[in-house]
Formats: sequence, structure tokens, C-alpha cells
Amino acid sequence: MTALAEAAPQHELKPYKSLENDQLVERIEAVRKQMGPELLILGHHYQQDEVIAQTDLTGDSYKLSKLAADSSDCRAIAFCGVHFMAETADILANRPEKIAQRDGQRVRVMLPDLAAGCSMADMAGIQQIEDAWDELSEVIDTEKLIPVTYINSAASLKAFVGQHGGIVCTSSNAKAALEWAFQRGSRVMFFPDQHLGRNTALGMDIIEEQMPVWDPFAEELGGNTEKQLEASKVILWKGHCSVHQMFKPEHVAMFRKQHPGIKILVHPECPRDVFELADESGSTGKIIECVEAAEPGSKWAIGTELHLVNRLKQEHPEQEIHFLSPVVCMCATMYRIDLAHLCWTLENLAAGTPVNTIEVDEETARWSLVALERMLEVH
Ligand code: 13P
Ligand code: SF4
Repeated sequence: MTALAEAAPQHELKPYKSLENDQLVERIEAVRKQMGPELLILGHHYQQDEVIAQTDLTGDSYKLSKLAADSSDCRAIAFCGVHFMAETADILANRPEKIAQRDGQRVRVMLPDLAAGCSMADMAGIQQIEDAWDELSEVIDTEKLIPVTYINSAASLKAFVGQHGGIVCTSSNAKAALEWAFQRGSRVMFFPDQHLGRNTALGMDIIEEQMPVWDPFAEELGGNTEKQLEASKVILWKGHCSVHQMFKPEHVAMFRKQHPGIKILVHPECPRDVFELADESGSTGKIIECVEAAEPGSKWAIGTELHLVNRLKQEHPEQEIHFLSPVVCMCATMYRIDLAHLCWTLENLAAGTPVNTIEVDEETARWSLVALERMLEVH
């Protein structure tokens, strides 16, 4: 424990949980005022409205990465999102040249609730990826296999990709990232989201038969034959988003029948059968842009996380916006970030007893950065 921490004991989380939202807001605002531009609060579009109201900047995964990479005045980032996003912000905000510009000072990145993970990111562990790569090397030429990881993955996977000549992609630059990969190799291994990988590759004239799915729990070769792997163009990982897989083709059919002229707008993490029925698709940022640019009176059924769709509904009363599922599809881990966690995190930071710091180890950060810089370049 540092001398500072001994002098000022950490605030406990529990008392914050019994405070009313207006009390929490007042205290959050006090820290923001006290710290000024040294504190940057970033929020992903899936966050709750009251959390979004306390952020300085919001974005999709790509934009948030860029904001962290470009940040100059701030010395601390409170990241209202999930774990992989905070890791990415730490790596990008603390690039060696950035640290040098700040005379050796790091930006502290904090995730207000450490349990805010991503179930999709958890579907691919580094050991599983390394084992799959080794097994693949017995069947195909891994020198010509380019790994592409969706940003929704642990930093260790991003480092693996950096070390093996690959790239990180987001939902907004997946096509450009695949094109980048095919300029450098003859095959791609795409993880952890099979749907983003498949939907993107189908739009590049790669057929389903050229996209075997690698199941890390299968006995051999991810559940594939040697022939299937030899004929492959994109090897997909058997991972998915539990929120987006709840949208079904029958929901699209129901909205089209009940609301003639309605447009279906989905996130590319949706399964192929829904994605192909949609009129428009894209990252959360693109979904917002689509709605903002539409004529008043437009009708939309949107297939992405509930909080974002509800916010769009409130912000655009001139349009008719529906949630593309009769059941609630919300991201339980994004929802873990609330005003109590944010206030607790900020007051501890201001008191010199920071909590929930996300710091990626140097070696992992170094190689992840290689893959993340490629991602930022190919947008
Ligand atoms: P984007 O905001 O980049 O579209 O990603 C959505 C998502 O699922 C984040 O986890
Ligand atoms: Fe992960 Fe899906 Fe939640 Fe995004 S919406 S953070 S992919 S679980």
C-alpha cells in the first residue's frame, strides 16, 4: 500500500448503492469539475441513459478506440463500457510516444465495475487460439494464414494477432480488415464472432462452404475434415453474441407484415439469416447515423441492444422506431455500469485511492498495439 493510500482509506462501494441518482449525479459532477480536462469519461452506446448523461464522449468500439488514441489532456479515463474496451483504451492511450509526450506519465484507465466483461470475448481464450493454430499448422500453411480478431476479445488475443501478421477489426471496418488480410495471405482465421466474420466475408463473394467453423471443444481439427480446411478461405471461430443471436427471421417477417414500408436495421453480430433479410446494417455508430439521416415519418425495426434502441426512440419522436424482437435483448454486462459504480470510481480517483485500474502488461500491450494500429489505419 502506498503512503497516500494509507493516509486516505478507499471508499467502499456499498454505501454508494443506497444513494439516490440525483445525489450520485451531484457527486459525479463535483469530481468532474474538480478534475477538469484531466478526467475523460467515455461511454459506449449500449450504456444506460443516466450513465451516458455523465460521459464526455460516446461512440462505437472504433470511435472510442480512436478517442482514447487521440486523447491529449487527460490523465485518467473512466471507461463506461466493457473490459476489452478499457484494455484497448489503456493500450492506445499509453503508446510509448504518448507516454514520452507526457514526460513518462501514464493515463490511468478505469472500468467502474470489473465484472463488466463480454460473453463473446470470453468464448475465445488465448490457449484455445494457440492450440487451434498449432493444429491448423499440421493441415494448412499457417505462413499464409492471417489472423483477424474482432475488437471484442482479450488483449492477449490481439497480441497473438499482432505477432502473427494479423489485424484487429471492429464492426465498422471488418470488410476493410479482411481485404487487408487477403492482400497478405491466402486464408483468414477470424475470431471470436462467427457471425461478423461470415456476414462480412459473404459480402466479398466468399461462399459458406469456404467458411468452416472451428469449435474449440471438438475432438479434432475444430470438428472439421482436412479437406474442408484445405478448401477454406475464412476459418470462423465458434463464438457469438448472446444479445444479437436473439433476433430471428420470424421477427423480420412479423414487422414487415404488420408495418408495410418498415426498414430493418441490424448490427452485423446478428446471425446470417437475419442479417440477409435486413435493409441496412452496421456498427452502433452507423445505426445512429442511419436513423439521424432518415426522413421524418420513417419506420424502423432495429436489431441491436435494447438501451440504444430505446434511446433512439426517445431522441427521434418524429420517426417510428421498434425493437426487432418481442423479447428483451439487453447486454447484462454493459448494464453493470451504473451511477453508483461510476461515482465510487471517480471519488476514489479524486481521493488518491484509485480502484478498478485496467493496465495491460507491457509485452501484451506492445504486440496488441501492432494489430490495433493496423485497425486504425484501414478504416
Ligand atoms: P460497436 O459499437 O462497435 O458496433 O460494437 C457493438 C458491441 O457489441 C460492443 O460490444
Ligand atoms: Fe459482448 Fe454482445 Fe455485450 Fe457487445 S452486446 S459487449 S458483443 S455480449
